[in-house]
Amino acid sequence: MRIAISTGGGDAPGLNAVIRAGVLAALQRGWDVLGIKRGFAGLLGEDEVIPLTRDSVRGIAHMGGTILRTTNRGSPFNYPVAQADGSIKYVDRSDELIANAKALGIDAIISIGGDGSLKIAQQLVNKGMKVVCVPKTIDNDVPCTINTFGFDTAVSTVVEALDKLHTTAESHDRVMLIEVMGRDAGFIALYAGVAGTADIVLIPEIPFSVDKVCEAVVARERSGRRFSIVVVAEGAAPVGGSTSIIGESLPGQAKRVGGVVEPLARIIQERTGKETRSLILGHLQRGGQPTGYDRLLSTRFGGAAVRAIEEEKWGHMVALQSPHIVFVPIPEVLSSEKRVDPDGDIVTTAREMGISFGD
Ligand code: F6P
Repeated sequence: MRIAISTGGGDAPGLNAVIRAGVLAALQRGWDVLGIKRGFAGLLGEDEVIPLTRDSVRGIAHMGGTILRTTNRGSPFNYPVAQADGSIKYVDRSDELIANAKALGIDAIISIGGDGSLKIAQQLVNKGMKVVCVPKTIDNDVPCTINTFGFDTAVSTVVEALDKLHTTAESHDRVMLIEVMGRDAGFIALYAGVAGTADIVLIPEIPFSVDKVCEAVVARERSGRRFSIVVVAEGAAPVGGSTSIIGESLPGQAKRVGGVVEPLARIIQERTGKETRSLILGHLQRGGQPTGYDRLLSTRFGGAAVRAIEEEKWGHMVALQSPHIVFVPIPEVLSSEKRVDPDGDIVTTAREMGISFGD
């Protein structure tokens, strides 16, 4: 038996721990393991396919990033090919990929990635390839699994930033806005905002009113708390408005959301008269060592992916449905959506703590 592992989409802390676990569980069964570099580029002659041995995964569980590297422009069904005139043409190279995998004697693939990778995996399964998936995103918005690895690490990074912002905000009596990742989901902002004792949390699932945000700042001032910490999910939008786009992406990439925090800071300063500052935490949230929780989840997912192959669960994704790890058919995952429940326990708890959602 020879399996191959690929990491696709944006990186997330814990990817290396999944790779390590997959390799160890496969080696223990006497299987061979290959690593496909940079998404599926390695299987298209655009990068390497490397052997993954006991030595290649030694001492990597605590490392951020991915030893296999990654890309979010590498769908074999829509592969960017540079043309002589500098333009990019998208071509279907899936047959080439399947032929190359066959030539290398690859029996099955573990694809570690987010929704884009899940779609690619399903398309490959439809063409007869044996693929199982491991969900990955710091945003925690993959349906059918309680958590994805990388989320806990990202939340910890934001909480650490909030601790630091608190001391400077309090010293200067300032309003401090911090924009955090999450795309269309507010999990990072909500979890970190509650854990890091923010005063205002703005998430895409609860459209905010600028008036209400300003009222919350002024109310704190009146109660003697002269600073405020505002956590803003990059996808947050005002009532009747839409998520702001930070800029154009490269062709073939998803739009980059965010940038809401800067205009919002200006408006808060104008309307409340409070000195206001903002920052975008950005890719710091994707880097660094995975937390213990994420390393454990990654290791469980890596081991389970090998079990999924053993049980021939082609087209399934491993998922945490506590306390169990289960295998969910990819179409089931892709047909649903996971967002913060505005009536759920964490939002309710936040409101009980006096946190305003600007609504
Ligand atoms: O999906 C993970 C994520 O980090 C989002 O939270 C964020 O909007 C996006 O990726 C950033 O992508 P990129 O690394 O392409 O800028």
